[in-house]
Amino acid sequence: MTVEHLPPAANAVEPRPFAGSDHPMRKVTRQVAFDNAWDAARAEKVAALFDSMAATWTEDHGGPDRLGALIDALERGDVPTEGPAVELGSGTGLGTELLRAHQQGVIVAIDIAADMLRHAPPQFGQRVQGDASALPVASGSARIVVLVNALLFPAEVDRILGAGGVVLWVNTNAEQTPIHLPVEDVVAALPGAWTATASRAGTGTWGVVRRA
Ligand SMILES: C[S@@+](CC[C@H](N)C(=O)[O-])C[C@H]1O[C@@H](n2cnc3c(N)ncnc32)[C@H](O)[C@@H]1O
Repeated sequence: MTVEHLPPAANAVEPRPFAGSDHPMRKVTRQVAFDNAWDAARAEKVAALFDSMAATWTEDHGGPDRLGALIDALERGDVPTEGPAVELGSGTGLGTELLRAHQQGVIVAIDIAADMLRHAPPQFGQRVQGDASALPVASGSARIVVLVNALLFPAEVDRILGAGGVVLWVNTNAEQTPIHLPVEDVVAALPGAWTATASRAGTGTWGVVRRA
């Protein structure tokens, strides 16, 4: 079995099908993961979009519900507790704080939107402005690559992940998340053969993906 689904956590809400299939970020998510559809114009547009939301992102999107899936993944997903951990699309650090609590060692939080990074507390990880399509990270250097509602650039994730490493994929609003892929699609998009453990918790879904 490529993806093993663990029973949902006790706090998991009932799955609901996505109501807004024409959400632009949903299309971008699939195009990036499966068609490598990313260029300078799209990068600029996406960075500007998130820069414009940065000042109120934590207030608008924070709170315990958002983090239920990440908390459960760190508890049940057999995620290594020693990094280096690289968080892609880290935003204002809502997930980075939890990672810091779980991880010893280096955490590098990377985001394309400088204003999102400016609003991220510095104590949770080194903040680097960068594009996940061309990461300023050495090949094979990450033990954990974390994506919380973040675009999946499969070739780069594969390149930076070291031997024995894991990809931690979280959608905080499960199928309702605009930047969403089922864990089966994460496994399919990554180059080569991968397996995953997945589950639901709080409002979200998670998958911990490893090379087969
Ligand atoms: C939906 S937000 C999620 C932010 C954060 N992970 C959270 O859960 O609050 C997506 C984030 O990905 C960033 N992003 C989008 N495209 C990116 C890229 N190509 N490289 C790095 N970050 C990117 C955005 O700037 C934004 O901060």
